[in-house]
Amino acid sequence: MLSKDKLLNEYEVKIAKMQLNDIPKLHELSLSVRWPHRDADWAELLKLGEGFVIHDLIGRLVSSMMWFSYDENFASVGMGISSPRLQALGAGRWLAEHVQNQIGNRNVLLVATRDSLPLCLSLDFKVIQNVYHHNGYVKHLPSTSRCSEEIQVLDHDEIKQLDNAAMGFSRDEIISQLLANSQGRLIRHNGEITGFALCRKFGRGYVIGPIIAKSQEQAIELVSPILNNLKDEFVRIDTYLDSGVFKDFIKSTGLNLHETATKMARGNLPIPKSDIHTIGLASQALG
Ligand SMILES: CC(C)(COP(=O)(O)OP(=O)(O)OC[C@H]1O[C@@H](n2cnc3c(N)ncnc32)[C@H](O)[C@@H]1OP(=O)(O)O)[C@@H](O)C(=O)NCCC(=O)NCCS
Repeated sequence: MLSKDKLLNEYEVKIAKMQLNDIPKLHELSLSVRWPHRDADWAELLKLGEGFVIHDLIGRLVSSMMWFSYDENFASVGMGISSPRLQALGAGRWLAEHVQNQIGNRNVLLVATRDSLPLCLSLDFKVIQNVYHHNGYVKHLPSTSRCSEEIQVLDHDEIKQLDNAAMGFSRDEIISQLLANSQGRLIRHNGEITGFALCRKFGRGYVIGPIIAKSQEQAIELVSPILNNLKDEFVRIDTYLDSGVFKDFIKSTGLNLHETATKMARGNLPIPKSDIHTIGLASQALG
């Protein structure tokens, strides 16, 4: 049985399940590590996953961590934050133990920041690949072709199937929620959807993701019309791509590399279909 009380330095703290009424304090916590999440972004995450928080005895929220169930075999972990004044005292590890207790035997994926890499390595996560966080104000509008079309409600089931193929597991509830909050584009070939991209409000502006496509060229066709509607807006795209035409394209519109993170996994890796790729992540927490 994991303990619910602990001493962090001289601070006596308690762990509790994350609740909707924690959101204002979670917002303050994420601002303290310069993350841009708004109350609405935390609310969306709480609809999609579960988490734990650590409070001190006068109710200040000093740490958080969440997990997201994809299906019975896979889950992700994210939103691990400790207040800067209370880092490196064991809060992150304590939260990770409680989260792991909930995840059970599922294989776990996460995206580690530089700060969390030592903790994740010590918890037996293995490095998979880089994740490149690009952001900036959209300054130079791309030319758009007419290849893509707006996503309609009738397309949602096929979009989820395509996402499953790209991820190697089903995360239907997450995609349903994202579809409800997003604008999106798709590409059809011989009547079949072969790629899609979603865009929703996030942080200082918008995030474009997931971007699921057969090629970088197709990803450009999907994302161009979205960026065309976002002139002078702040936009974020997280991608696995080290280089290539899609990376050149997003940089040319004004989205520069902000930070590099590390995708990690514990347990088995999912097996995506080989001809369909996750070019952009929904978010670092959701994959
Ligand atoms: C990552 C983070 C959540 C860890 O929380 P924490 O409460 O400091 O974690 P712990 O005290 O349990 O430390 C775990 C290990 O990480 C190390 N660590 C903690 N903060 C670190 C940092 N900023 N840089 C490098 N290592 C760090 C600790 O020394 C410890 O190692 P040890 O157990 O071998 O001594 C915290 O550093 C943080 O909020 N960072 C900013 C936000 C962030 O990047 N979150 C990660 C999201 S994936």
